[in-house]
Amino acid sequence: MSNDAPRDTRIPVIRELTHADMETLHQLEKQIFPDPWPKESFDEIFNNPDWRALIAEVNAEIVGYACILVSAGEMHLANIAVVEAWRRKSVARRLLERILELAIAEKCAMILLEVRVSNSGARAFYERNGFKELYTRKRYYRKPVEDALVMVRYLA
Ligand SMILES: CC(C)(COP(=O)(O)OP(=O)(O)OC[C@H]1O[C@@H](n2cnc3c(N)ncnc32)[C@H](O)[C@@H]1OP(=O)(O)O)[C@@H](O)C(=O)NCCC(=O)NCCS
Repeated sequence: MSNDAPRDTRIPVIRELTHADMETLHQLEKQIFPDPWPKESFDEIFNNPDWRALIAEVNAEIVGYACILVSAGEMHLANIAVVEAWRRKSVARRLLERILELAIAEKCAMILLEVRVSNSGARAFYERNGFKELYTRKRYYRKPVEDALVMVRYLA
């Protein structure tokens, strides 16, 4: 392909969270989740070097994000979300690709996550991307109260 070919600007760019994203992120979190993270939880990302957050952006619009924590050689995928209009367009897959790169760079043995047992879409996404069910954590979530499924993807 020629270098002069127009770039597909609708492919999301994955980048690190900045302070300028915080208000939008908070609004999206409230739109997407029934029990959104409070603002202070996102602030923690800037205060604790073990936390990272990635933003998926298309033409300066945030279309998805993910928050990860590296601890004791394991990566915890704490949060991943894509705005409704951008779902099933591989935005989360691209975020996960970057997360995998970071996990490998950090020499993590595995990526762990929790997901609501009723969240069939997210469970299908994780299964499609190599995560396996480990066990159930009873009444892990609030608003509404629900069990969490703990899932893992081991890294070679
Ligand atoms: C789960 C979520 C992050 C997936 O994001 P996404 O960008 O739509 O996912 P992708 O387009 O990268 O999906 C990749 C593959 O995962 C699977 N998948 C994703 N969403 C799915 C769904 N709702 N139902 C079934 N399979 C799904 C499919 O195999 C899909 O490939 P395909 O579209 O070619 O069939 C998104 O639905 C979301 O934000 N949900 C609300 C927030 C949430 O529940 N987050 C998870 C908290 S644990």
